[in-house]
Amino acid sequence: MADQTFSPTIVGFLCNWCTYAAADSAGVARMKMPPSVMVVRVMCSGRVDPLFVLTAFLRGADGVLISGCWPGQCHYKTGNLQARRRTALLTSIFDALELGMSERFRLSWVSSSEAPRFVRVVKAFDREITDLGPSPIQDELFL
Ligand code: FES
Repeated sequence: MADQTFSPTIVGFLCNWCTYAAADSAGVARMKMPPSVMVVRVMCSGRVDPLFVLTAFLRGADGVLISGCWPGQCHYKTGNLQARRRTALLTSIFDALELGMSERFRLSWVSSSEAPRFVRVVKAFDREITDLGPSPIQDELFL
């Protein structure tokens, strides 16, 4: 059973052109969503270096979300496709490490006109991370 007092910390790398705009619209419209996501605005999901994800986890994030433009809509043509490839690679590395990190890592597509979708993505991910509990990474790596 999930710890009722646990409130996750999620680092969200959001593409400036799509998901960040959706998050902004959701805020302006006062849509209710968990306060767990710490937003890092990037110009494209393809800008998210795998080291950013690892650093977020090592610095205490319970979950990491990357969100950008839908395939075919990236302002830099293939940035989101690169993000998708890197996500698959990182997920397989996380699986090999058996630290339960892949469940805590998510890639999603949210366009600028999809504020309600952004809220749904955040709520669902927040619920999943809350159910998983605090990240064990720092304990596992003896940091
Ligand atoms: Fe949005 Fe590339 S510009 S994902």
